[in-house]
Amino acid sequence: MPGGRILVVDDEERQREIYRDILVDEGYGAETAASGEAALRLLAQNRFDLVITDLNLTGMTGIQLLTEVVSEDPTVAVILITGYPSIQSAVEATRRGVYQYLEKPVDRATLLEVVGEVFERLTTLKRTIIGDSPATREMMRMVLKVAPSAHTVLILGESGTGKELVAREIHHHSSRHDRPFLAINCAALTETLLESELFGHEKGAFTDAHQQKKGLFERAHQSTLFLDEIGDTSLGMQAKILRVLQEREFLRVGGEEPIRTDVRIIAATNKNLEQRVKEGGFREDLYYRLNVIPIVCPPLRDRGDDIDILAHHFMRKAALVAGRRVERISPEALEALRSYAWPGNIRQLEWAMERAVVLGESEVIELRDLPPEILQRPAAVTAPGAAAAGGQMEGGLEPIIPEGSWEGHEKAKIIEALQRSNWNITRAAQLLGMTFRTLQYRLEKFGIKRP
Ligand SMILES: Nc1ncnc2c1ncn2[C@@H]1O[C@H](COP(=O)(O)OP(=O)(O)OP(=O)(O)O)[C@@H](O)[C@H]1O
Ligand SMILES: [Mg+2]
Repeated sequence: MPGGRILVVDDEERQREIYRDILVDEGYGAETAASGEAALRLLAQNRFDLVITDLNLTGMTGIQLLTEVVSEDPTVAVILITGYPSIQSAVEATRRGVYQYLEKPVDRATLLEVVGEVFERLTTLKRTIIGDSPATREMMRMVLKVAPSAHTVLILGESGTGKELVAREIHHHSSRHDRPFLAINCAALTETLLESELFGHEKGAFTDAHQQKKGLFERAHQSTLFLDEIGDTSLGMQAKILRVLQEREFLRVGGEEPIRTDVRIIAATNKNLEQRVKEGGFREDLYYRLNVIPIVCPPLRDRGDDIDILAHHFMRKAALVAGRRVERISPEALEALRSYAWPGNIRQLEWAMERAVVLGESEVIELRDLPPEILQRPAAVTAPGAAAAGGQMEGGLEPIIPEGSWEGHEKAKIIEALQRSNWNITRAAQLLGMTFRTLQYRLEKFGIKRP
């Protein structure tokens, strides 16, 4: 993305000018600083997307600068360059959140390649995951950071906070992105079905097993498998999943030959797993295995001004789909959106805006166009001690607001989509912006049956 802003830090004048000239030639906005201290002064005044710094500076070191930059603004990417690479400094830099650690000499092609990658990540991410609050930025920083590796990731967050979106983004930004992202909702299936979906089965393994079937662990070889609602699996299933994570191999149901798989697992849950472990409902060993890199999707009520940005985004999207001209949200309506507690989080906001666009009669979304539950709101509730920025989870993930009214609304919305699609579940899921399995799961949860 030429146009992005880069700060080059090196105490050797010649060197920083070489980098700067290459970048400016390519259309980036680049500035230089001769020390870490000077860099921080510039960073306090201007917004940069990327800092490229030498490791050994006079005064503050490159690692110290990295630490300062990342703690001040986690969305700024940092590239460290060194003439004296060591494992120790590489490890330290990684721990501090470096984007890339490069060894000198860094030629033009390498520099432009790495920088190009940084900006590609930043722009694509901005397109899908919307929001600019500290909580969302922290989440995005984690997504960028973990994406390139093959590490297992655990995504935590209440219903509708974007867990699946985050999982897809991680896959999209990983080296596995050209293979299909596979997903399964562990809560939507019976134990036996889940087992055969995950592990596959041999012909004749059970009565209905007329043919051999490959499971998801096999099909997701060299790709990513998203285990949604992992908190709802039985202890027995947890043991089986743990074995795959540890051994990197498994047996098909009824099979005897272990099958090796190179699958990246991303798991998600809206349950408080730590609590579940304490209560004996979730295996501690699996929890630790999954929880190496947790990413928290903060609830909408902790995302500050994101509500404004998201509401306008969903308004424009819905207007486009509906072919209507809707330009603004009235100040009263916006105020109501801001002070509501959003138990159904971003999905609920998305639906509220779709509804408002369809019901509204002017170019402005008014208070009366909003769903009744938002208007009858009790005073906004915030989680006691909820971390606004860091997204650190303290208490539980269980929603703090009674879900009753939202559930009723969600159910009505699902039935409406089913009617519109003539009970075609695939189509209804599309209309609702859910996966087929999520919809199936919800149908079961709400006991919705075709009349
Ligand atoms: N930051 C965001 N920017 C734009 N859209 C978002 C964002 N977060 C979530 N969404 C949208 O909100 C909806 C819900 O997201 P998603 O299905 O990923 O949530 P979830 O946490 O998996 O929910 P659930 O627990 O109900 O399965 C989707 O339509 C998704 O595209
Ligand atoms: Mg989901």
